[in-house]
Amino acid sequence: MLIKWFLLFTLLHSIVGDGAAAGEGLHLPLYRTERRRVVKRDSGTAAIGLGDVLDVTYNVLVEIGGVSTPLVLDSGSADLWVISDSCRGSCTAGVPLYPNRTFQEAGMDVHILYGDSHTGTHAFGPIGKDRAGIASLSVQEQYFAAIIDTNTTVLETGSAGILGIGFPPISVLWRQLLQAHLSTQPPSIQQRSNHFPLPRTSTSPFPSFDFLQPHNSRPQGHYLRQVDSLRSSTQVIASFGLYGPLITRMIQQHLLTRPVIATSLQRDTVDIGGNVGLLSIGALLPGISDDALTWVPLRAYSVAEGGLPPPIETPEEVYPLVWEIPMEDVWFNGVKLQRSKLAPPNITLSALIDTGNSLIRGPQDVISEIQSLIGSMTFDCAQPQNLSFQIAGKLFPVDPRDFLHQTFADSVDFCSPALAVTDQPKLGGTGFLFGWSLGDPFLKSVLTAFHYGNLTHPSQDPPRIGLLSTVPSNAGDRLKEVVQEAKEGDGNLIMTSEAAPSGTFLATSTGVGGVPQATAVQPQQPPRAPDTSSSSQYTSLSHLKVLHLIFVTICLCLPFI
Ligand SMILES: *[C@@H]1O[C@H](CO)[C@@H](O)[C@H](O)[C@H]1NC(C)=O
Ligand SMILES: *[C@@H]1O[C@H](CO)[C@@H](O)[C@H](O)[C@H]1NC(C)=O
Ligand SMILES: *[C@@H]1O[C@H](CO)[C@@H](O)[C@H](O)[C@H]1NC(C)=O
Ligand SMILES: *[C@@H]1O[C@H](CO)[C@@H](O)[C@H](O)[C@H]1NC(C)=O
Ligand SMILES: *[C@@H]1O[C@H](CO)[C@@H](O)[C@H](O)[C@H]1NC(C)=O
Repeated sequence: MLIKWFLLFTLLHSIVGDGAAAGEGLHLPLYRTERRRVVKRDSGTAAIGLGDVLDVTYNVLVEIGGVSTPLVLDSGSADLWVISDSCRGSCTAGVPLYPNRTFQEAGMDVHILYGDSHTGTHAFGPIGKDRAGIASLSVQEQYFAAIIDTNTTVLETGSAGILGIGFPPISVLWRQLLQAHLSTQPPSIQQRSNHFPLPRTSTSPFPSFDFLQPHNSRPQGHYLRQVDSLRSSTQVIASFGLYGPLITRMIQQHLLTRPVIATSLQRDTVDIGGNVGLLSIGALLPGISDDALTWVPLRAYSVAEGGLPPPIETPEEVYPLVWEIPMEDVWFNGVKLQRSKLAPPNITLSALIDTGNSLIRGPQDVISEIQSLIGSMTFDCAQPQNLSFQIAGKLFPVDPRDFLHQTFADSVDFCSPALAVTDQPKLGGTGFLFGWSLGDPFLKSVLTAFHYGNLTHPSQDPPRIGLLSTVPSNAGDRLKEVVQEAKEGDGNLIMTSEAAPSGTFLATSTGVGGVPQATAVQPQQPPRAPDTSSSSQYTSLSHLKVLHLIFVTICLCLPFI
């Protein structure tokens, strides 16, 4: 969650840098098929299409304060923020910003930090509330941050902010609002941010619940009693419905038929198409039934592991922090890889499922092992590679078309794996316990349902993730075909971007498991944007430079992570 932003921002910063140098700004070719737009609407469910910038970020239109604007869909975080039109500095945007007319300020600012002290980015602005919604579903008085100062580059990716779909305990806004609530006489919240220390995310996004411990930082008797009584009530958990993230509050207000959202990510690079780009809210994807999915329970974090303390009335409750599931093994081209020696052996292997991460991230020693099996840092793009994750007894391969990036412009002789190194798990409640973060390459290959279960009493209905592998049996052959086509053409694999649609697409066909497809299968001719060839070329060139930069960056990052 941390380093991914750094890489993403580096990537996008570089794209923009290239454009500025050429004096042309940023030109992303828009490729659109003839698909009919419909807003799917049912009582308690909605479905909306996803935008996709070069398969690096996926975004969704969110309506906030009366404007509809694209936000990055991020299952690795739980905060909602949008850049305000009072933004300071260079906030030139091709997307609508938050207009601030109906903003109800909470009286405090938030500083959301990504990355570490060497490589971080920040987003800063006041916390407040307004009406917010996605597709046909909306809630009143949703807390979010109206960002006025940021050095992230979400705007350059065609997004105005981030929609975190994780659980309340990792939300910086929820913790800060709750902390303010517990330290004042509700309902007035008067302190400005300097009254509260920055949330401790500068070196790690792992949440701290110290403010819920009376012995810590609560010096005075009456405050101590007050906090104690609040802790002993169910108010902390009940505040999910007041200060919690958008999807959490939709669930708490019984707006959704089921407490589930599902994603299917389209492919806009290498071989455009794949699954339809869709976020389904309150239901699984159209045509997909529960028993088609492999359901896996989320990891819950005990207090000793740094988890959220349960209410005294229900001490048996253990809460999830992130969308993290157990994983048995990792396979590469038919070889079962050794477990990482970097993680403490008594931590069971698990993976974060993260829509906001554009790569597959794992332990340094295992990533090195994969690289040595490939034979070098790069491989022939026409060579299908098979990285598979064994989860609940089943293998979930990454489609070979999603495993690679073209390394150099005008040549498909060299491709690089979509891999990076991530932090290793930490014991004793000092960090997350997952060793892998499975980002967009995995999510393009696997349809995913995020089931929140019972948010307040997880023992009653455990949170879980449902997975359905959608990699077609001819994926390797398709890779060979598109590489051959690129060789016969200008030597570049296809890449494109599409804006977040306001409705959902009516799929013209279905693929493996009955999953709706992004485009009709066109085996003879890969889709190209005909009248944007120069900007397409331009983008692919700068994109390739940038991809090269990503890997340089990863190497530079290693000492820090
Ligand atoms: C929003 O507008 C109010 C009133 O005009 C102003 O006080 C406040 O600073 C603005 N906030 C932001 C985030 O722009
Ligand atoms: C963004 O701002 C932070 C300070 O909040 C700084 O430490 C960081 O280096 C900046 N990052 C970039 C990419 O400019
Ligand atoms: C990928 O590797 C797994 C594990 O060895 C194997 O079961 C599967 O058949 C392979 N898939 C392809 C398409 O080669
Ligand atoms: C795991 O092992 C470490 C020592 O390597 C120990 O300190 C820790 O308590 C163990 N954790 C569990 C959950 O067994
Ligand atoms: C969650 O569980 C609690 C305790 O059993 C129950 O009162 C509550 O209604 C459940 N919530 C939902 C949404 O089912």
